[in-house]
Amino acid sequence: MKNPKKRPEDLRSFRWFGPADLRSFGHRSRMLQMGYDEEDFAGKPMIAIINTWSDINPCHAHFRARVEDVKRGVLQAGGFPIELPAMSLSETFVKPSTMLYRNFLAMETEELIRSHPVDGVVLMGGCDKTTPALLMGAISADLPAIFMPAGPMLRGAYRGETLGSGSDVWKYWDEKRAGRISEEDWREMERGIARSFGVCMTMGTAATMTALAEVLGLTLPNASSIPAADSAHPRMAAETGRRAVEMVFEDLKPSRLLTAASFDNAIVALMALGGSTNAVIHLIALARRAGVALDLQRFDTIARRTPVIANLRPTGQFLMEDFWYAGGLSAFLARLAPLLDLTQRTVNGRSLEENVAEAKVWREEVVRPLDDPVAGRDGLAVLFGNLAPRGAVMKPAAAEPRLRRHRGPALVFASYDEMAGQIERDDLSVTPDHVLVLQNAGPKGAPGMPEWGMLPIPKKLVRQGVRDMLRISDARMSGTSYGACILHVAPESYIGGPLAFARTGDEIGVDVEKRELRLEVSDEELARRRAAFIPRPPRLKRGYGALFARAIGQADEGCDFDFLECGEPLPEPEIH
Ligand code: FES
Repeated sequence: MKNPKKRPEDLRSFRWFGPADLRSFGHRSRMLQMGYDEEDFAGKPMIAIINTWSDINPCHAHFRARVEDVKRGVLQAGGFPIELPAMSLSETFVKPSTMLYRNFLAMETEELIRSHPVDGVVLMGGCDKTTPALLMGAISADLPAIFMPAGPMLRGAYRGETLGSGSDVWKYWDEKRAGRISEEDWREMERGIARSFGVCMTMGTAATMTALAEVLGLTLPNASSIPAADSAHPRMAAETGRRAVEMVFEDLKPSRLLTAASFDNAIVALMALGGSTNAVIHLIALARRAGVALDLQRFDTIARRTPVIANLRPTGQFLMEDFWYAGGLSAFLARLAPLLDLTQRTVNGRSLEENVAEAKVWREEVVRPLDDPVAGRDGLAVLFGNLAPRGAVMKPAAAEPRLRRHRGPALVFASYDEMAGQIERDDLSVTPDHVLVLQNAGPKGAPGMPEWGMLPIPKKLVRQGVRDMLRISDARMSGTSYGACILHVAPESYIGGPLAFARTGDEIGVDVEKRELRLEVSDEELARRRAAFIPRPPRLKRGYGALFARAIGQADEGCDFDFLECGEPLPEPEIH
């Protein structure tokens, strides 16, 4: 322990338990009611363990056991663990989209921390939105906090081949639609693709966001790469618990770790990982919570100079289990060192540089050298133009090269249902040069900005062997998805963004090199269509949905609620 121990009266939890007054009597007596003696908790750092376990979140199925490992670590280090359950946000099962609830979990996290007798926090998450949500809440609460990533599941296995979460589902679904694989094959795949607890094992949103949490300095070194089923994982969980107690004594809060440089590091890592486009929204939201200015242009600037060196699906070939055997994120960061500011501090009290000093890449084909990357640059591109005045994103490295500069007629769908009703039709008037457009799929329009952005290729074209087309929407797409999908168009169509004015037959042009996205209609015609736009009411009119509709920001702003972004620190709760 680097710093001398705080005196008991210096702990935040002392306000609940220390004073000789009526309320403290109540707090202490109720601890005794639970079977704890005063020597169990009095004067010790209370560590909240925010656990996003649920019976229907397969990615966090091991959290019931893992929380015991975290508690073991907290107790070993002289702290007192308090498990606080929070909304689980299973990406697979929570509808209409977990993105509708990311801010809900962020609020819950912040308020759980603020309202309880807590000195430090362990955040247990990993499944897509849980990571940004937990971190957003912890940044706003700003007590010493450490993230415990769920870890990726094992590789999928099918007839001697490996299967990757999401990416191979989309791939083989198209093969099934084309009639190339049978229902029996498909069912066999279903039994082999998810072989253990843990998060998606491609470089999807979960693997991306847990890796970026680590780059931001908020996990122990290499923690994000450990497969959930590896015995190193519970060992990491216990160490996380031990470290949380020490962080209380060192007062090592998110505000002392997060800087503009640490967010730049996260963006560099995002690009070099070929990570999820969702991370753009989440990093902007995290930065704003931390009071760091971050806009879309910064992502594009960094993307232009950063090669993709992690050979992981969907951009590359391998899976997270291979990444771990290759040396994990520490080895990846060591290799990326010339592009990073390694002086940034991390939760273990050391700099990134100290943390990766001994790291080595053990499998060159998985983590490639900077001068022999998977893709030269353009892991991500931010496009602007009259169709997206506040920006849109795409992953050029995951698209067919012919679509990087393309002009074609639009085929516009006003809703997901309309698209789904037409896309399988044999008489759909569509060619591989068409540009598929989906409207009303943004933060307010869907609502919740679901992952509809990888629009299916029309079935008649799939049968002809077409596997990629230009697709544009104000939706997001799964981090495991791929293809020429232009996403996050801002402002969104539901509130009158220009995407609302695209019509079937209009020409749309994209030029990735120039970062341009244009609706090729005259300014006068566009103005006419804008004038005819009738504002629409919120999609959800009561409850959390109504709050969401009122307060949600656009994609380029990180989709946070306006009242949750960084502002005046809130006072500690009164205890009377
Ligand atoms: Fe949980 Fe993919 S479904 S991480």
